[in-house]
Amino acid sequence: MKKEFASRVSLTSKSGLNAIYPSQDPEMISFTGGFPDATLFPSKELADSFQIAISNQHSPLQYQVGEESIDLREKIASLLNNDGTVTNPELIMMTQGAQQGLDLVAKLVINKGDGLVVEGPTYIGALAAFDAYEPNYYSVSMENDGMNLTELKRILIEKSVKLIYTIPDFQNPTGVVMSLEKRKQLIALANRYDVLILEDAPYRWLRYEGKSLPTLKSLDTQDRVIQLGSFSKILAPALRLGWLTASGEIFSRLKELKAGADLETSNLMIQTVNAYLSKYSLESHLTKLQKSYRIKKNAMMTAMRNYMPENISYTDPKGGFFTWITAPQNYDLDNMQIMSFKPAFHVMVIPSTNLFPDKAHKNGARVSFSSVSLSQIDSGIKRLGNCLSDSYQKQSI
Ligand SMILES: Cc1ncc(COP(=O)(O)O)c(C=O)c1O
Repeated sequence: MKKEFASRVSLTSKSGLNAIYPSQDPEMISFTGGFPDATLFPSKELADSFQIAISNQHSPLQYQVGEESIDLREKIASLLNNDGTVTNPELIMMTQGAQQGLDLVAKLVINKGDGLVVEGPTYIGALAAFDAYEPNYYSVSMENDGMNLTELKRILIEKSVKLIYTIPDFQNPTGVVMSLEKRKQLIALANRYDVLILEDAPYRWLRYEGKSLPTLKSLDTQDRVIQLGSFSKILAPALRLGWLTASGEIFSRLKELKAGADLETSNLMIQTVNAYLSKYSLESHLTKLQKSYRIKKNAMMTAMRNYMPENISYTDPKGGFFTWITAPQNYDLDNMQIMSFKPAFHVMVIPSTNLFPDKAHKNGARVSFSSVSLSQIDSGIKRLGNCLSDSYQKQSI
């Protein structure tokens, strides 16, 4: 059979997204997945909430024809309002994880060849979603306080850009938080050059140190920020429940696109999470998560200090799931992963290649501490450190 796939397929198949799933090697210590710690899922509470949901007299098993979820949207609106983001239940749409929000927003604005700014490096799944719309990517380098706005400004002056995608809180993959000054400047630049911003915030409530900064959405006065949130990292990813908040025609058009994509988000899951939030305290659950992930993050930093060779730098994230290592320019960590991290040292990370749209950056890697145990953090980082020093000594990079 002659297979004539659309041009978008050739890009999506190169995303490298499958690399984040676990390895079959029993000796492997994998720092690849952005997976939550499974021991922290509120399983009993969710089972109880599911029972409540499925016993609901208004059949949770029926199509809701767009009318689903008002109770849950009210609760999300109040969580967002308490976090400083002004919105209301009418401007919140439930999605199948934040991932669907990424797809819908790209579908809304990106025609083939349109300018799309992403942080470099960025979330691998966002590139996988965006690739299907064949954008013209402009990657802006990440600094310790968020994206380089001088680079961004130059791009906005020289190119035509429709959308800026950013993860301001505990960025995936670097763990970096965008400073308040940069948040304000980013909004000012978007206003000046008339560009939409997609603010992806799934890790925002997983802060282990310091105080939260205002969301981009809360600083936006021109309805140009679309914000995504998710229950994946704070309750469980298998719920496949996220949300999107925007306003005006952007919001109504997104609702139309959502209906075309999947009619509606699972009402059963919506009712389950609604029951959970009615009966249990999300705040105490978040406190438990923060406490546990803080310990892992600290263990990761201790292991990095103990085992990383001097020529490798790493970020110290204040929240989220990731630290980012940077090796000297001549290191190709993708190649090293294939040649030595995986087969000889039984350790895996996400090398930077697939986290940049041009796939030209080889010397960085995302190291996730969320789903590994404290002893795996210690032994895995020791292996990684040994492997990096070993390759350096042999000059085999
Ligand atoms: C930055 C970012 N956005 C979106 C997602 C997708 O999450 P969800 O499970 O809510 O679809 C992830 C998942 O890792 C992520 O890290």
